[in-house]
Amino acid sequence: MPTSLLPPQLLRTPATWLITGVAGFIGSNLLEALLRLDQRVIGLDNFATGHRYNLEQVRQLVTPEQWAGFRFIDGDIRDLPTCQDACSGVDYVLHQAALGSVPRSLDDPITSNQTNIDGFLNMLVAARDQRVKRFVYAASSSTYGDHPGLPKVEQVIGKPLSPYAVTKYVNELYADVFARSYGLQSIGLRYFNVFGPRQDPNGAYAAVIPKWLAAMIGNQPLYVNGDGETTRDFCYVQNVVQANLLAACSENADAINQVYNVAVGGRTSLNQLLAMMQQVLLPRYPHLADFKPVYRDFRAGDVRHSQADIGKAECLLGYRPTHSIQQGLAEAIDWYVAHLA
Ligand SMILES: NC(=O)c1ccc[n+]([C@@H]2O[C@H](COP(=O)([O-])OP(=O)(O)OC[C@H]3O[C@@H](n4cnc5c(N)ncnc54)[C@H](O)[C@@H]3O)[C@@H](O)[C@H]2O)c1
Repeated sequence: MPTSLLPPQLLRTPATWLITGVAGFIGSNLLEALLRLDQRVIGLDNFATGHRYNLEQVRQLVTPEQWAGFRFIDGDIRDLPTCQDACSGVDYVLHQAALGSVPRSLDDPITSNQTNIDGFLNMLVAARDQRVKRFVYAASSSTYGDHPGLPKVEQVIGKPLSPYAVTKYVNELYADVFARSYGLQSIGLRYFNVFGPRQDPNGAYAAVIPKWLAAMIGNQPLYVNGDGETTRDFCYVQNVVQANLLAACSENADAINQVYNVAVGGRTSLNQLLAMMQQVLLPRYPHLADFKPVYRDFRAGDVRHSQADIGKAECLLGYRPTHSIQQGLAEAIDWYVAHLA
């Protein structure tokens, strides 16, 4: 992570950051990046979907001095006093804690709502009360819902297609109201299918890239929902880290209290993704030479095509994605082989 992503004064005098969802995939990558930049980090997580071993992996990747800058709170964002405690003395909040996955929210909309909306509101109240400088939060491309336009531009959204999408859109509405009503500075980052080290390959709600890589490495059946021509704008996690740091530190007044697409701006079909993954793994796993996926029904709540216009983040935040899908897969391959095999 280039040091140029943080303003020089933060490199000289570290700031205090709060990462919620720090034991999860994206949260633990943010933690690693900030500790490598010698920042002080408070992490909050209840291990609903995150893991202690993600924190342990970060500990092994940074120096003991950098690790000493980290304080972990085992707690739940659905509890307001916990959020107040976590926000105390914090400069920047990177709010990642949520229950992800469209199918999970269709199976259990109440728990998704409690975490993603009630928990989010607790975090906004705590950030306001503790006077944090900025509240950066994980929004989602699911907010585009049923709008067919491509590429997706921030100001044109459709109707949500799942309870999860409702929760992420409500986050944006609440953040906007807290800016108007209380002057809380926030930036929402609409992530498009993120992938990289420490993304969980296990469970019914696992994301497609680690799930498929685990199936390919283990020579297990690999299921494609639909015909494989569904498209996504897959985004390597280092691009997401970059967007978070830029959003927290931006001094451009026009950039604040906005939402941004965070992606690469590409449009890749699931069949193309499979071919890329096969190419990356083939040198280590020759059994994949004649690999064939199993096609099955489309999944409820999934949008057919997704592709971001990243012009707004480029223009207002100075966002420049550093990794294409292939570059991300190549960078993460050693982690996948070590942890998915
Ligand atoms: N991964 C993606 O492609 C993607 C795309 C769009 C948006 N997002 C959003 O990005 C954020 C991070 O996603 P991720 O992929 O890292 O998921 P993740 O499941 O790996 O991480 C979420 C973390 O939040 C924690 N958490 C959940 N409920 C909590 C609660 N009540 N209190 C405290 N901690 C709680 C979990 O234990 C987990 O560690 C989420 O808000 C998600 O909705 C992710």
